[in-house]
Amino acid sequence: MKIGLLGFGVVGRGVYDILSDREDVSVGAVLARRDLGQLSCAVTRDMQDILNDPEIDTVVEVMGGLHPAFEYVSGALKAGKNVVTSNKHLLCHYYKELNALAAENGVVLRGTAAVGGGIPWLTNLEKAARANAISKVSGIMNGTTNYIMDAMHKSDVDFADVLKKAQELGYAEADPSADIDGWDIQRKLIISAGVAFGVCLHEDDVPVFGIRNVSAADIKRFQARGRTCKLIASAEKLLDSVAAYVEPTLLTSDALEAAVPANFNLISLEGEHCGKQSFFGQGAGRYPTAYNVVQDLLDIQSGVQGFYTDKFADASTNNAGALHRYYVRTNAKLPALDAVVEENWDGAVVTLPVSVAQMHELAKSMLAEDDKSFFAALA
Ligand code: HSE
Repeated sequence: MKIGLLGFGVVGRGVYDILSDREDVSVGAVLARRDLGQLSCAVTRDMQDILNDPEIDTVVEVMGGLHPAFEYVSGALKAGKNVVTSNKHLLCHYYKELNALAAENGVVLRGTAAVGGGIPWLTNLEKAARANAISKVSGIMNGTTNYIMDAMHKSDVDFADVLKKAQELGYAEADPSADIDGWDIQRKLIISAGVAFGVCLHEDDVPVFGIRNVSAADIKRFQARGRTCKLIASAEKLLDSVAAYVEPTLLTSDALEAAVPANFNLISLEGEHCGKQSFFGQGAGRYPTAYNVVQDLLDIQSGVQGFYTDKFADASTNNAGALHRYYVRTNAKLPALDAVVEENWDGAVVTLPVSVAQMHELAKSMLAEDDKSFFAALA
């Protein structure tokens, strides 16, 4: 197998390094905008060079972003080349289009590294979904935010300093908002729900609240009550819709997720016959992510066909029936919040059970008055 490697950042360099020790898969050419120094393959700025090279049978896209990644990946599929990508934004946003293109052209599209970095999550979710009905996927799906939350629980560190460290370690997205505001996790949740339930969810329908505003004082309140805060994604299959959302969650110490350290992820599925299964590992970083890209290449080489699922029914999101009690810390004065307060936590409140839909609506009003407001669900 000979690949065209699109992008030579953190993950691209990792793929190149891992493949340099192998004989069965080699890099034919790298597409990059900057000068890469001495490499053992061709380097080009022109995608046509890769599309027109008959020896390149598979394209690896690790550039990130929607454009020009979409045009390049579409071009590769149309040119009859398999595609492996680590780009969750691309897979989430163009899920149906890219799979249709792969099917039309009789080639394979894989993206295991797009969710969970180095964890074999999508490949196992695919296997679980073919043997039993999946009712729920959930967990910690972002290394950067887990790294930040873990550090803030272990010592009195500044949010911005820990984020900078995660960026230096190569965990964070180019745009930090994708991590700390939860968008990266939303995309991973949508891809996971797609594979688990055979549905297409839409980004606008999946509410997200991130950890940008969590403070040291919040963490002290949680720890005083035996709780650990993690940014959790959840998608649960309902009769004809899906309850799906991303929000900070206060876990009790017996929850597996409460113990997840550093940049690790822990993602779980709940199946009709297999029960709950959890997958733990490095959710970000050069070599773990590159490892899953290489696994996809080896799967294609050994004859794996298509995508993880061929079912792509559009589905709506319904978060009206998912109820939680919420920790809320805000200076906003909202009668709708006052009406649901149950407890006081010294400078913050805890609500009666309210729906996820209602809480995320309330959060918009809170942020409009006090842009430092924070909330977290009590699990
Ligand atoms: N920024 C992502 C994370 C990279 O921190 O998990 C892996 O998707």
